[in-house]
Parts: sequence; structure tokens; C-alpha cells
Amino acid sequence: MIHVAQRMSRLGTETAFLVLAKARALEAQGKSIVHLEIGEPDFDTPSNIKQAAKKALDDNFTHYGPAPGLPQFRAVIAKHVSLTRGIEVTPENVVVTPGGKPIMFYIIMTCVDEGDEVIYPNPGFPIYESVIEFLGAKAVPLRLKEENGFRIDIQDLKQLITEKTRMLILNSPQNPTGGILTPDDIRKIASIAIENDLIVLSDEIYSQIVYGDFKHYSIASVPGMLERTVILDGFSKTFAMTGWRLGYGIMPEEIAKLVAQMQINSTSCTATFTQIAGIEALTGPQDGVQKMVQEFKRRRDAIVDGLNSIPGFKCQKPHGAFYVFPNITGTGKSSREMADYLLNEAGVACLCGTAFGRFGEGYLRFSYANSIPNIEKALENIRKAVKKLPVFQT
Ligand SMILES: Cc1ncc(COP(=O)(O)O)c(C=O)c1O
Repeated sequence: MIHVAQRMSRLGTETAFLVLAKARALEAQGKSIVHLEIGEPDFDTPSNIKQAAKKALDDNFTHYGPAPGLPQFRAVIAKHVSLTRGIEVTPENVVVTPGGKPIMFYIIMTCVDEGDEVIYPNPGFPIYESVIEFLGAKAVPLRLKEENGFRIDIQDLKQLITEKTRMLILNSPQNPTGGILTPDDIRKIASIAIENDLIVLSDEIYSQIVYGDFKHYSIASVPGMLERTVILDGFSKTFAMTGWRLGYGIMPEEIAKLVAQMQINSTSCTATFTQIAGIEALTGPQDGVQKMVQEFKRRRDAIVDGLNSIPGFKCQKPHGAFYVFPNITGTGKSSREMADYLLNEAGVACLCGTAFGRFGEGYLRFSYANSIPNIEKALENIRKAVKKLPVFQT
């Protein structure tokens, strides 16, 4: 037997991929499943972006590129981030990575020592806790509460800070709750970060998927924050490019150099032809993004209304991302039991709230990156399955 290193016992995972595999196995047995588990747009990548990649291949962007990214791409990203966040970012602040996810690993590895504490949202994207623990730091969960619209409670945050706190992770709009931090929240969090000399990892991967009057506000825009913030963003969600693996981090230049070195030690660089396509994504027509967001909004409204009409379910209307996080405590089942029950009895794949940390108990996460007819079918199936539960049999 090959020896497995001790540290592997501290590595977590992302349950979405496990549930997807379970759902696919049921489909292979002939069962029909509506997929509301995986966090990716069901839209195709816009054709101008695909054309740019095809041309890049013909132009032989098939070789190694510089570790932090192609200079022309870093320049376009710097301009885009400067404009969208109202800050001044240079190409030297940009590191291009295969998806946004590697930034989590690289930054925690680069900036956090063993024994340091990192505060992260819980329920939250599971990879934060996994990577923090894996690297020997202490993951300190910051509970996001339903009654607070799943925003960060400033008093709760203050109470978690110790002299060992090194980093704070923010994610707005948020996965799994769809919660958004307001400019006022952001300003208060920024002053706490400055006061306590914290590094902030701001995961802004859903920054362009916001609805109505809500606007994304980056903590990097607050005076004094740029030099202590790392922005994570990318192309997976905004441009329906999950399989391309294209993302980036924005960080102080000296940290960017170290992260580029991490990349030399791991992936060498991000695929070059995808970076050329990324230039087209940011500089080409943006109407595809706007249409996608409008369609997500319609779906959000349909799924929120539908879930709220199901006994035992209570669902807030989120203002960003493409997830809903209904409270299901009224069904009498734990979130794990309920997710399994819905997969097997209703043919609906979703994630249990605890896939996003222990404070996700009592909730489910549905991704509404699926068509309205499929969402309606899922709602109908859930309604029928829930009616059969013992609590509703009196
Ligand atoms: C909050 C959050 N951050 C980052 C990512 C990673 O995105 P990418 O596909 O660019 O690695 C995801 C993907 O689900 C996410 O939900």
C-alpha cells in the first residue's frame, strides 16, 4: 500500500462534484434527474469568445507563456478591474490562473503561516475551510445568519478576531446563499481589517451577477484597502466558461511575484490560447452577459416563489449569484436527509446546506442555472415528495 501523507486527512472537498456523480449514476439506471446541484451557467460560452480561441490556436498560442499571464491579457484585466472597482490596478498586480480557485490555494499558502487564524464565511464555499486546514492554519467560521440576509454581522466578526488572525475571506455575492454585502457593511469590515492589520481575500467571482438596484462593491475600493486586499475573479461564471479554467487574482506587486513563483512550481502557466479568448471576453460585446443575468433573474423569481409555496420551506430572495438557500427546518428532516430524499424521491439533485459548513444545517442549496421548465418540473416533484413526509400526514 502506498503511504498517504498525514496532511491529507485535513483536505476537504466540494460536494457538488460528488452529488453530480451520484445523480449521473441514477440517470444511468434510467431515472430522470433535474440538476440543480452544480454551480455553473447552463448557457454556452458566447461565440465571439470561442472564435477568438479558435483563431488563437491557428495563430499558435499553443506554447508556454509567462507564469503570471500574457502581458497583453494582464493589461486588459488591469484596465477592467480598475474600471469596475474604481481603483488603480497595473498589470504587475495581476496573476492569471487556471480558474479562480487556485488563487485561494496560492494566497493562503503565500500569506498565512501554520497556526495563524483565517476567518471565513460559513455557510460558504467549502474550499476555503479545506485549504486553510490543509495548510496547517486554523479555520475560524464566521456564521452568516438568515435573519441578517446572510450578510456578515459586524459584531460577530469583531468577536472572532484574536492576535493570531491573519486573514479574512469575503465572498459577495455569495455562494451558497446569494447574499450581498452592502457598501456600509464593506466600509465597516474594511475599518476592522485596517485596525487589525488583516489581509482580505475578496472572492468576487459573482461580481457581475447581481440583480435590480444592487451593485457589487469591492472592499479594494475603500481607501487603505488596496494594499491589503487580494481580489479573486475569473471567467467561469460571468462568461459561462467553467470548463476553460480561466481566472485571476489582483494583489500587491510583491505578492503577485510570489504567487507567480507558486505557479512556476505547480502549473507553470495558464493555457495561452484561453488567455487570448479572455481578452475578447473582456473587450468584446457584453450583451451576452446582460442577457444571461436577466434570464437568471427570471429563474430566481420562479424558484423563490415556487419554494415558498412548498410546506416546510422558507426561502429568501437573494440579490446576486445563481443560488437559493431555503430553510427546510419545517420539514422535520436534516439537510443531509432532505437532499438525499429529494434526489431519490423527487429526482432533484441539490446540495445539503452542510456541504458549505456546519452552519448550513437546516438549509439546502439549489443552483438555478437551469431552464424555467426544468425548474418548474423540479418544484412540482419536490412538492409531491414533501407532501409524503410524516410531518405533513396529520
Ligand atoms: C465562491 C466561488 N469562488 C470561486 C469559484 C471557483 O471558480 P473557478 O471555476 O473560476 O475556479 C467558485 C466556483 O464554484 C465559487 O462558487
